[in-house]
Amino acid sequence: MKGIVLAGGLGTRLRPITHTGPKQLVPVANKPVIQYAIEDLRDAGITDIGVILGNLGRDDIQSFLGDGSEFGVEITYIVQGNPLGLAHTVGCAEEFVEEDDFVVYLGDNIHNNGVTDLVESFKTGDYVAGIALQEVENPGQFGIAETDGSDNVTRLVEKPDNPASDHALVGIYVLSPAVFDAIETIEPSWRGELEITDAMQELLDKGLAVDSHVIEGWWKDTGKPEDILKANRLVLDGRPGSLNGTVDENADVRGHVDLHETATIEGRAVVRGPVSIAADTVVEAGTYVGPYTSVGPETRLSSVQLENSVIVGESEISSDGKIVDSLVGRAATVTSASGLLPEGRRLVIGEQSNLKL
Ligand code: G1P
Repeated sequence: MKGIVLAGGLGTRLRPITHTGPKQLVPVANKPVIQYAIEDLRDAGITDIGVILGNLGRDDIQSFLGDGSEFGVEITYIVQGNPLGLAHTVGCAEEFVEEDDFVVYLGDNIHNNGVTDLVESFKTGDYVAGIALQEVENPGQFGIAETDGSDNVTRLVEKPDNPASDHALVGIYVLSPAVFDAIETIEPSWRGELEITDAMQELLDKGLAVDSHVIEGWWKDTGKPEDILKANRLVLDGRPGSLNGTVDENADVRGHVDLHETATIEGRAVVRGPVSIAADTVVEAGTYVGPYTSVGPETRLSSVQLENSVIVGESEISSDGKIVDSLVGRAATVTSASGLLPEGRRLVIGEQSNLKL
């Protein structure tokens, strides 16, 4: 079995972060989202992986993943060019897949239970496809599956107005080469995209069997900033923490804290886990880093109180006061304006930034 990781898309809902890089490289607990997908495939024994690249951030993704050896897999890059929908993206993998069955993993999805159970479930019958499902509160925002009460799928609809089921399609699929003919026959959906959901409905229409598997554990599509924060909380919650860096004896560090061996927590700093602090980052005296915060590499924090936030890295954050529920992009600075006249907030804001002051 092969693996396909989708790393295209424009990441519009994550702008401005995605103006300068692909959404799949946004870090969750200091690990790019796409790395979770690669590791899940590897852990299921799938090491022959095609990564499909769009136009945005192609070089960044290739330089991060390389040939895959660092992650214990072998990566073949497939260029999609302009994104025309998930089905089009999957269609680009036809040559790479050849006659094999394959797992498709959306590169912006994180799931804490891997893909092994889904693959095993698919193998139990004569299926042309297998989907992963989870109950959600807002089914209209996802692809939705109806089943016959056991695991056989009877109907698939992409983002229905009146969902007949609250079981959403998780962004992980097992497919057989039969899907490529189905992709050829579908038309763009109301959102102008060739939907993988429609391609699989086409397989059902032909009388072919599609398996479903309700996944255990949590799953997050990290399309929006609040999803990144949520995924960050979920991943940090499952971490035991390990204090490998330098912690001053006068620092107050409690809870599960992952501290990189080259990171430093200075005296009179307060850190309350779960927290992740990456390489070469310094938490200065008088700083508070609160629960569910990930601070990326080469960052300096001073005087700030930070909570439930993701700092991508290479930043200086030295503003007095509290920063909560925030996603701060690479090399951004947040400094203090106190002492400057006239009093007021001083901002340099890029396109599609989002501030709550
Ligand atoms: C895509 C799929 C949808 C699925 C979702 C999972 O939606 O089209 O069926 O439920 O991924 O993340 P999109 O993220 O393109 O809106």
